[in-house]
Amino acid sequence: MENQILQIIYLIGSITFIIGLKRLSHPDTARRGNLIAAFGMTIAIAGTIFLYRNESGESFSSTNIILIFIALIIGTVLGVLGAKKVKMTAMPQMVSLFNGMGGACAAIISVIEYQHHFAVGEYGYMGTVLAGLLIGSISFSGSMIAFGKLNGNINDKTIPGQSIINLILMAALIGTGAYLTTLPEPNMMLLGVLTVGCLIYGVFFVMPIGGADMPVVISLLNSFTGVAAALGGFIYNNQVMLTGGILVGSAGTILTILMCKAMNRSLLNVIVGSFGGGATSTAAIGNAAMGTIKEISVTDAAVLLSYSKKVMIVPGYGLAVAQAQHACHELETLLEEKGVEVKYAIHPVAGRMPGHMNVLLAEADVPYPKLLEMEDANNEFNSTDAVIVIGANDVVNPAAKKNPQSPIYGMPILEVENAQNVIVMKRGMAAGYAGIENELFYEPKTRMLFGDAKATLQKLITEVKAN
Ligand code: TAP
Repeated sequence: MENQILQIIYLIGSITFIIGLKRLSHPDTARRGNLIAAFGMTIAIAGTIFLYRNESGESFSSTNIILIFIALIIGTVLGVLGAKKVKMTAMPQMVSLFNGMGGACAAIISVIEYQHHFAVGEYGYMGTVLAGLLIGSISFSGSMIAFGKLNGNINDKTIPGQSIINLILMAALIGTGAYLTTLPEPNMMLLGVLTVGCLIYGVFFVMPIGGADMPVVISLLNSFTGVAAALGGFIYNNQVMLTGGILVGSAGTILTILMCKAMNRSLLNVIVGSFGGGATSTAAIGNAAMGTIKEISVTDAAVLLSYSKKVMIVPGYGLAVAQAQHACHELETLLEEKGVEVKYAIHPVAGRMPGHMNVLLAEADVPYPKLLEMEDANNEFNSTDAVIVIGANDVVNPAAKKNPQSPIYGMPILEVENAQNVIVMKRGMAAGYAGIENELFYEPKTRMLFGDAKATLQKLITEVKAN
C-alpha cells in the first residue's frame, strides 16, 4: 500500500517538474514555476523517507532517517544562505557549484551500488551503475574547474596534445568500466582507479576551454549531471529521479545548443577554441589603428536623450557588475514621462548566463514587453534617435560582421550603429570578455560616457530631471 501511494507521489512530483520547467520560460511565471517544482521535489523526498519499503517490506531505520534529516538540514541551510548571499554576477559560479554537487551525488550512488548490488552477468545493470560513476564524476570535477575559472581562481591552461590525451584517457576509462562489468566479484581498487581517472578527465576536459565559454560548458555539464541522475533513476527503479534527470539532461542540452547558435559557433569550437581565455584588454584610451574616440558630457547626453523621440537601451555585463538596473529603470521612466519612447534591446548572450539581462531588468520591475529580442531590436535601430549602450561590448561589436579574423566573427550582434546617435557607457576602454577591440567606439556617431554605469546613470537622471 505504501509503495502504491509513493508511486502516485512520484507521478505528482514528475508532473510538477514539467509544469515548473514550462513556467520557467517566462519571467512572469518563473518564480511560481520554481516553487511548483520545489514542492514536487519536497513531496518526493518526504514520500521516499516515510513510505519507501524494500522487497522485504522494511522501511528506513530510525538511524538512517536521523542521518537523512541532518543532511537535509545542512543542505537546506547552505542552499538558502548561498542563494540569498550570491550576487547576480556570481550566479553562473553558483549554478556550477550546485551542478557539481549533483554530479558528485550521482557518482557516490554508483560507488555504493556497485558494492552493494554487484551482480555477475547483469551487464545492463552494472553498465548503468558504472556509466553513472563516469558521467557523475566528470561532471563534478569539471564543474569545480568551471567554478574556479568563473570565480577568477583558475586560469585557462592547455598542455601540448591535450585533445589526443583527452581522447586516450576517455577510451581508457570506458575500457576500464567495460572490464569491471565482466568481473566475477567487486574490485574496489579498480573502481577507485576508475573514479580518480574520471575526476582527472573532468579537469582535463574543462581546463583548456576559454573563460568566456564557461556558461556553455556549465550548461553542458548540467546536461551530464541530468543524465547521471537519470541513470540513478534506472538503478533504483525510481520514476521521479528518472523524470527529473531526463528533464535536466534535455534542458541542459537544448540550452547548450541555443547558446552555441547565438554565438554562431559549434560545440566543438567551444570545447577546443579557448575563446576568451587569457585575453588582453586595451586599457589605453584611443587606439591609433582604430582612430580616435569622442566623449560626451553628462549634460549633453541628458539633452540628447530628453529631446529624442525614441531611445533604445542596450544592457550588457557591465550593467550587472554595477548593479545599475534600478537606476536604468528610473531613467527609462523619467524619459517616458517626457514623451520619449524607451525600449531595451536584449542580446541572447549579453552578460554571463542565459537570460542574465532579463532577470536583472525584471528585478528592477522593467515591464517585460519593453524588452526586444535581438531580431526585433535590429529592425528598430534605423528609426531610433539614440542608443545607450550600458556596460555592453562584445554584443555590439561590428567585428562580428566585418572581420573574418575576429574570434567573434559570425556571432549575430545588435546593430546599434544603424541608430542616429550612440552613447556608450563604460569605465574605460577595456575589452569585453572576448578580449578584443571594438570598432564601434571609434565610429563618428558614437560618443563615450565614461564612468561606473550606476554612478553615471544617477548623474544622468539628475540632469534629465533638470531639463
Ligand atoms: P562584455 O563584452 O563582457 O563587456 C562588458 C563591458 O562592461 C566591458 O567592456 C567593461 O568595460 C564594462 N563594464 C564592466 N564593469 C562596468 C561598470 N561597473 N560600469 C560600466 N561598465 C562596466 O559584455 P557583453 O557585451 O554583455 O557580452 C557578453 C560576453 O560574454 C560575450 O562575449 C558572450 O559571448 C560571452 N558569453 C555570454 C554567455 C551568456 S549565456 N550570457 C555565455 C557564454 C559567453 P570597462 O571595464 O571599460 O568598464
